[in-house]
Amino acid sequence: MNKTYPFAYIRGKVVKIKDAHIPIQSKVIHYGLGVYTGIRGHWNNGNLYLFRPKDHFERLQKGVQMLGMPWTMSYSQFKKILTDLIKKNKIKSDVYIRPIVYAGSTEIVPTLENSEPDFALYIISFGHYMSTGDGLRLKVSKWVRVDDDMIPTKAKCTGLYANSALAKSEAVRAGFDEAVMLNRDGSVAEASSSNLFGVKNGVIYAPPLSANNLDGITRRSLIELAKKELKLTVKEARFKKADLYKFDEVFLTGTACKIVWVKTVDKKKIGTGKMGPVAKQLKTLIDKAVLNELSGYKKWCEGVY
Ligand SMILES: Cc1ncc(COP(=O)(O)O)c(C=O)c1O
Repeated sequence: MNKTYPFAYIRGKVVKIKDAHIPIQSKVIHYGLGVYTGIRGHWNNGNLYLFRPKDHFERLQKGVQMLGMPWTMSYSQFKKILTDLIKKNKIKSDVYIRPIVYAGSTEIVPTLENSEPDFALYIISFGHYMSTGDGLRLKVSKWVRVDDDMIPTKAKCTGLYANSALAKSEAVRAGFDEAVMLNRDGSVAEASSSNLFGVKNGVIYAPPLSANNLDGITRRSLIELAKKELKLTVKEARFKKADLYKFDEVFLTGTACKIVWVKTVDKKKIGTGKMGPVAKQLKTLIDKAVLNELSGYKKWCEGVY
């Protein structure tokens, strides 16, 4: 079980988590007007290393801008709020951090004007997000991925997650672990809350950022590691469901799951049905990188203590 730490941040101050409430009339509840991110922190060698917190913050900031909510905060302000909260909670273990900018306004009209954005933050303890050992069983969802010209998919907007939840629940109800979402043109977008990669003949394929997916921080990290450390070619190009079935390897990436290999898609075995060599090598690299143990990539980690 993930434990929520006792102190959170909301409306400019640290409060007990049980007091970190918003009014039921808030626009974020009714209209999904919020932007959030999820950051991992790993406890290693007496320090808590946050993985690429600046990149998360910048994506959050851009997302808020894309929605047009009037909110400003500098990275140093954000970092101070976050590190103070970690210290207040006396955290010395792996964590998952949820910063959110939400429309706190209680006005009835669904506008972003007068949305009174507020910044809130809470932290939970975190181990594995999905069981990764046996490989995932994916289902291609009947739910089409929301298009960028409906809701900006790069914004990590809370309202967008109704789309993810519909797909994920459909998959889970049908006995699968996770959903893959397609775009209107039939090309693969991503999974419900992670990016997707395929491997064919040693080349890595990733749906491009124009495919209505999130510009995942883990996606970015793995592309860099694959190119620089494994000297692999990474092709960012659209591919369809039928291509997905033919890959030698498929894997998902995200802050929560890091990298997790896929055993089947729509009950069709991917490759040998075992974790492939590319996923294995990338997992070794990213597992080290998040612990601040990968030389050349320590710039990705910021220690709290
Ligand atoms: C829809 C979606 N795609 C991809 C990702 C992976 O992004 P990241 O690696 O930044 O966690 C997430 C998780 O944040 C997500 O919600």
